[in-house]
Amino acid sequence: MQSVVKAASVGQLAKASCLGVPANTALPAAAVAGPAKTYKKVGTQVRSIHAGNVDVPDFSYYRRSATKDPTSDNKSSIENRNAFSYVMAGTLGVSGAYTAKALVNQFVSSWSASQDVLALAKIEIKLADIPEGKNMTFKWRGKPLFIRHRTAEEIERERAIDASTLRDPQTDEDRVQQAEWLVILGVCTHLGCVPIANAGEFGGYYCPCHGSHYDASGRIRKGPAPLNLEVPVHEFMDEGTLIVG
Ligand code: FES
Repeated sequence: MQSVVKAASVGQLAKASCLGVPANTALPAAAVAGPAKTYKKVGTQVRSIHAGNVDVPDFSYYRRSATKDPTSDNKSSIENRNAFSYVMAGTLGVSGAYTAKALVNQFVSSWSASQDVLALAKIEIKLADIPEGKNMTFKWRGKPLFIRHRTAEEIERERAIDASTLRDPQTDEDRVQQAEWLVILGVCTHLGCVPIANAGEFGGYYCPCHGSHYDASGRIRKGPAPLNLEVPVHEFMDEGTLIVG
């Protein structure tokens, strides 16, 4: 019987508490005088403010005019709302794609050669400065570049060679654009020494490092080098100018 009375009083207190107690309100004396373990089981809800005391801001300025009327039909404004969404999505998509393209372009262009490197990429040579029978050496992309003004005798001699008998078969016609001008890199194809012009057993170039002999077409004829001297990309311009690179 005692426990029933106790349970009833607890239920009464819980019900009263859930209805809400104004802030800073003292609890009833009976409740304060009750057993301490009873209050631990009871939830209380204290409101410091009431929704009725607050002015709700007017957000109608931010709403789309098609949806301002709360009594209007949802379907009547769907085209207007869809159009807005499509325009926004399209605008963001285009601007996003443009931004991405600009970023990718900037990133990829950072890999390109710098201006000072590009300036060294090509070399222009005045052929009139090279007398017949002479070989001149230029520096191009950090390597020696040989330009040889061949004599008629040299041309005839190199063109008479049967390419099939060579270690690196190449005809003279395949290696020169104009018969009197030989354009090759002065880098031995064995281990990279710089050959000496107008030397060796074949009247072309001789590499003293290990004894490779090249002819006046830059083809390997004797010694350890496996390949002919490299012919770089070049082009003859008007008025006796050669562009290499
Ligand atoms: Fe020229 Fe060896 S580097 S022959």
